[in-house]
Amino acid sequence: MAITYNKETKTFHVTAKDTSYVMQIINDGYLAHLYWGKKINEYNQSNQIQYRDRGFSPNPVSNDRTFSLDTLPQEYPAYGNTDFRTPAYQVQLENGSTITDLRYESHTIVKGKPVLFGLPAAYVESEEEAETLELLLVDDVIGLKVKLLYTAYADLDVITRSAHLINEGDSNLKILKAASMNVDFRDHQYEMITLYGAHERERFVNRTGLRYGVQSIESRRGTSSHQQNPFFALVREDTRENHGDAYGINLVYSGNFQASVEVDQFDCTRLTMGVNSFDFTWLLEPGESFQTPEVVMVYSSTGLGDMSRTFHKLYRTRLCRGEFRDQTRPILINNWEATYFDFNEDKITDIARKGKDLGIELFVLDDGWFGKRDDDNTSLGDWFVDKNKLPNGLESLVDKVRDMDMQFGLWFEPEMVSENSELFREHPDWCIHVPDRKKSTGRNQLILDFSRKEVCDEIINRISAILSSAPITYVKWDMNRHMTEAGSATLPAERQREVAHRFVLGVYRVMDEITSKFPHILFESCSGGGGRFDPGMLYYMPQTWTSDNTDAISRLKIQYGTSLVYPISSMGAHVSDVPNHQVKRITSLEMRGHVAMSGNLGYELDLTKMTEQEQHDVIDQVNYYKEIRPLIQFGEFYRLLSPFKGNETAWMFVSEDKTEAVFAHFKVLDEGNSPFLSTKLQGLDPDKKYTIAELGASYYGDELMNVGVNIPKVQGDFTSVMWRLKAE
Ligand code: DGJ
Repeated sequence: MAITYNKETKTFHVTAKDTSYVMQIINDGYLAHLYWGKKINEYNQSNQIQYRDRGFSPNPVSNDRTFSLDTLPQEYPAYGNTDFRTPAYQVQLENGSTITDLRYESHTIVKGKPVLFGLPAAYVESEEEAETLELLLVDDVIGLKVKLLYTAYADLDVITRSAHLINEGDSNLKILKAASMNVDFRDHQYEMITLYGAHERERFVNRTGLRYGVQSIESRRGTSSHQQNPFFALVREDTRENHGDAYGINLVYSGNFQASVEVDQFDCTRLTMGVNSFDFTWLLEPGESFQTPEVVMVYSSTGLGDMSRTFHKLYRTRLCRGEFRDQTRPILINNWEATYFDFNEDKITDIARKGKDLGIELFVLDDGWFGKRDDDNTSLGDWFVDKNKLPNGLESLVDKVRDMDMQFGLWFEPEMVSENSELFREHPDWCIHVPDRKKSTGRNQLILDFSRKEVCDEIINRISAILSSAPITYVKWDMNRHMTEAGSATLPAERQREVAHRFVLGVYRVMDEITSKFPHILFESCSGGGGRFDPGMLYYMPQTWTSDNTDAISRLKIQYGTSLVYPISSMGAHVSDVPNHQVKRITSLEMRGHVAMSGNLGYELDLTKMTEQEQHDVIDQVNYYKEIRPLIQFGEFYRLLSPFKGNETAWMFVSEDKTEAVFAHFKVLDEGNSPFLSTKLQGLDPDKKYTIAELGASYYGDELMNVGVNIPKVQGDFTSVMWRLKAE
């Protein structure tokens, strides 16, 4: 890895592991984008920017009709002085104008990676792991400075980017848009992959060809959302799991985001991503600055599989933090689908005890333990134990569970308040709202105004009090509605459109304080399942509840789509009851186990109601998972067959040294007289011989990967196999 600057050609060459990213300062300081892709030795202008007089592409330099920003590939473009495409940023002056003109002023290249104050970001553990280029662009007329940060990782094909806007002028500036990145490709032969969805149907894979004009994804919901994940990839038409170019871009942010891909009149493609500019402005007074969230950019010349494994490795090792980052995660039993709000101390201890008997390690008490929460209409914000349900208090319950040699975890929804709560009655203006307007509710609750420091402080105190009151080792941090009437009681009028972003900054501050105060607690984020499955959350909490949909068949798509970006160790996956509570499907315990064992295994059903046989099966699953757990959670993940393409799904987990692997194959519907099934494995060492215990046979890796392996016929819908491979 190195970041170099060639003074003669004024060219920056940023190299990550096997990636090059090249920029050039041209004509009086415009910053042009030259290349992003497979690593090259040197950029020697073989593909230099071409200039031509083009109709309706005006010229910033009047005597040069061949130069227009409208045709120039750029790094951080503006709108309004000859470029008509999507801008990376837009700033309004006090005189109402939105014309700005940033030019290169200076740069520095430093070892390591700077911390982004108040925002989650990937990090380094030693300065040798990465290098950072800081490019300073200036608009002299208004005193606007923009620092563009580029960090390249030595051992990963990762470049991170962000922008820092500083008002060094004498007048107020209003940021209308500040993207984290912009890249202009010089062709349009790409397809775009996005992860769309809904509650209980998150991160479905969508792949489409690009069309002329702008195509975009965004969230306007106050969170990163179930509906669109803050991720997109551009790939070539022939890109597959293990072949072809893949450019993956993921915003490290948990709020409103926007990503756009614009194919212009000359077949060039502009990619821009950052905080959503819709319903957003940010007042920048003289001396103030604004830091955009970070964007992670991964390039793979060998397909989507390697792109995903790069994201996984970065997130597992240099985004997630804390003592649980490298620890295998406990197998848990959660009472939500077992009891919903209807439980008492005996019921909880019965489930926990049964869990212990079956080898489960952690009991999680979900929603309903506080205030007067007998349904979801009340008590959020009142983080005090409900003595009607737990008459001996939380401490006594935790002690009982811990006496069984089980860990204890607890559910919170810290960002919310119910109108029917002590907290709301005390502080009716502490929610996000707009004066004189009705407050729309979602799940009958309001969002606390985390743009206000005193609100954050009170919640930090309330949650901390509970967490200090008993030896709790796990927290599920939920968030169950999206933002409406985004306004704050204390911000001045000209800052009201900052609320959604200030809320996210407040959430990050609260999460930072609580997770730092309780480093021995494993935190799992959640937002009605996977509504906030984003890298911003993973920075504070190393795992996320993947979806409220626990049906094994639905989960094939959800977990497959999630794996495009997010590591297996971040995905909570539970075996639940049948008929499944979300889709009413009945699948075997074996298949539910295989799907849940493909993530962080947990159970979410009333264990006390299981038959003897089912309990034995759970014991077998738990024991099996304990053996394969490090491989599942920290191995390398290979997608073999996509649930979006057919009736079968297959994937595998391979240890870094390739001595061990787990293979899983799932069939959805059976057919009469069905075709023979066989699958080619991936990621193995071709020269190692692997024993597959379940088949009682051994094969070289090259045979398994090139010839493939037969999948035995099992009659019936919803069947699966999970095999363990061990090198001899
Ligand atoms: C939504 C979560 O995703 C569920 O798992 C559960 O915790 C409920 N909230 C509780 O209200």
